[in-house]
Amino acid sequence: MSRTFFDQPVERKTAVNPLGLKQFDHIEFWVDNADQWRDFFVQKYGMVARAYGDAETGLAGRRAHLVGQGRVNFVVTEPQGTGLEADAVRAHLEKHGCGVRDVAFRVTDAKHAFTESQRRGGNAVHAVFEDESIVTASIAAYGDTIHSFVERKQSGEFLPGFKNVPAGIDDRDINFAMIDHIVANVDHMDEWVTYYEQVFGLDLFMHFDINTGRSALMSKVVSSTDGWIKMPINEPSSANSQIQEFLDQYNGPGVQHIALLTPNIVATIEEMRKMGQDFLDVPDTYYDASFDERVGAISEDKDELRKLKILVDRDNEDGYLLQLFTKCVFARPTLFFEVIQRRGRSIGFGEGNFRALFEAIEREQELRGSL
Ligand SMILES: [Fe+2]
Repeated sequence: MSRTFFDQPVERKTAVNPLGLKQFDHIEFWVDNADQWRDFFVQKYGMVARAYGDAETGLAGRRAHLVGQGRVNFVVTEPQGTGLEADAVRAHLEKHGCGVRDVAFRVTDAKHAFTESQRRGGNAVHAVFEDESIVTASIAAYGDTIHSFVERKQSGEFLPGFKNVPAGIDDRDINFAMIDHIVANVDHMDEWVTYYEQVFGLDLFMHFDINTGRSALMSKVVSSTDGWIKMPINEPSSANSQIQEFLDQYNGPGVQHIALLTPNIVATIEEMRKMGQDFLDVPDTYYDASFDERVGAISEDKDELRKLKILVDRDNEDGYLLQLFTKCVFARPTLFFEVIQRRGRSIGFGEGNFRALFEAIEREQELRGSL
């Protein structure tokens, strides 16, 4: 694994935050069954239902639930009835299976973001909608994914066509605070890095090249100057790469994983496991001598981490991260989630764990005598 940091903004970046981005606003998934996926996030991710939309509330051709926790907002949308909107969701499902349609950003001025993004080379998908509480508009991103701009003027309904629902009591030990990062898999990484630099004014923050012998990928991370928005973009660098498998299964570029930030990963993983969420298999050999050498001193109890199979990566002298990946959640092996906690000045994405996991699996095979 090699990693390069970029201290200087590259030349292509011409202005700081030209679109007035604040943070991720919400993620919209287009799914086969909105009720089922609402229940999934409520039962296994500790979220609560926050809003609902269908024909009766003014949502054309769709039925959708908003679920969330902290600043994390997920919309799960299924097609309903006939018409252009329903057909678009059905075609998306046919081509991609369930997946992310919209990575939406909160902005200070949605009309400005929409106009300026097009002036900078973005392509319009949905024109400006405005009512007394909200302004939205959308542009195209990789594959069939879009980026909506959401400006919230005063508290009101979550989105046009939705009605807020009274929130239940959030009393579970899953404490997602916000989205840490969202990862895209694409065919041509540099094309999309240029897009985020030119259209969004994001910085190229980090570059890494991972080759474990079994899977190879290249990744570049674009981020906002304040660090609230971080988006690694992956490209396959071998035919058997897990990135290539995603592109084949999803029928093109799309969101590979969404990392959810928690202040207490031990409690979060313990509760999610109890609720039946499956995670990546981590061999016990991951926690042998090489773990201490690689990770150094940490605040957490190593036995507890081993018991819950939580991964650790030191990415800075005074910072490290703890993380774990779910298994793919939809019928096709495409999207998964990451649970992440950052300690100190942690700035990475767990790159060291690719090799550490690969080597741990090899050591486990040796122990079984199969290598
Ligand atoms: Fe990640």
